[in-house]
Amino acid sequence: MNTSPPRRPPTAAYADAAEAAGRAPSIHNTQPWHWQIHPDRLDLYADTSRALPGTDPDQRMLLVSCGAALHHAQVALHAQGYDTAVRPLPEPDRPEHLATVTITGDVPVTAQAMRLARSLRLRHTDRRPTVDSPVSAEQFEELRRIAAAVGVHLHRLTPDQVTDLVVAVSHAEDADAAEPARQAETHLWTGPSRPAGTGLPPEVIPDRRPETDVGERDFGAHGTLQPGGGHDKAATYVVLFGADDDRAAWLRAGQALSAVWLQATAQGLAVLPYSQVIEIDGTRAMMRRILSHLGQAYLVLRLGVADPEHALPGHTPRLPFEQTATVDQAAR
Ligand SMILES: Cc1cc2nc3c(=O)[nH]c(=O)nc-3n(C[C@H](O)[C@H](O)[C@H](O)COP(=O)(O)O)c2cc1C
Repeated sequence: MNTSPPRRPPTAAYADAAEAAGRAPSIHNTQPWHWQIHPDRLDLYADTSRALPGTDPDQRMLLVSCGAALHHAQVALHAQGYDTAVRPLPEPDRPEHLATVTITGDVPVTAQAMRLARSLRLRHTDRRPTVDSPVSAEQFEELRRIAAAVGVHLHRLTPDQVTDLVVAVSHAEDADAAEPARQAETHLWTGPSRPAGTGLPPEVIPDRRPETDVGERDFGAHGTLQPGGGHDKAATYVVLFGADDDRAAWLRAGQALSAVWLQATAQGLAVLPYSQVIEIDGTRAMMRRILSHLGQAYLVLRLGVADPEHALPGHTPRLPFEQTATVDQAAR
């Protein structure tokens, strides 16, 4: 156990947490969240001006992305020695109000809290094929426990199920290619006219289709990221899933995604989400069958040992804090 850092007024702590949450992963790096910072609480809203109506009509991935930002904010507060309570979807008549975070007291700053806070700065999406070392059973078990603590299951696909995933991903690619609204959105968020501070720059998109069994998302254009010589033979594919399929469940799935990804980062693992198979109704049903109808699939993740020799050469941008947060007058 470490000694606690100096205390900060709650408003400053909430503002720091909202800023840290800006580093969260999001579908197409849309960062579809807005924070309102109050003296006594932090409110999370969906910013639907950055939603993807063609790709994500039910806002599943928007909710998962906002859930990841919510968990990032919690991690930042825990690392400052604050305990928190989260009220999901606190206003039934305002579905865009996704959560309220409140500081409920002090907690000791543990080594694990500091590790996760460090991962906030290091975490990123890695679309290069994984190296040849497999993810160990102990590493997976730790991630499974971490997801379960947030109320979400994590299933490691068997080799047969990975074969079924290959088929589902290929169906999703075909469905995507046949849908002009989805194609137009992908182009908007990955092409040269992507909104400033958002989207995927060429540095994080491979310069050719990587040699993988489970095909990576086709962004419609090649970037400049060199995939190296790896393959995904040693990769582990996992599915985040749970009993429910509604906004509360998707928000929780996002919290679990962040929890798993930050811990995986601390374990030296690389993570790549596969959301196309969930976005499309037909392939989402295939994923449910792959899970033997044990639950609703929220997101597929590829886990692999991160290449220790080569750091990613580029990273995704972020919106300035002022565009994703407002400070209540009373908190100034
Ligand atoms: C809900 C969700 C779905 C995503 N789906 C995909 C995907 O299908 N393919 C992909 O390459 N990246 C996917 N990503 C990764 C995002 O593109 C990435 O988080 C974003 O560009 C920010 O980059 P960073 O994670 O490196 O910070 C997804 C992320 C989230 C949170």
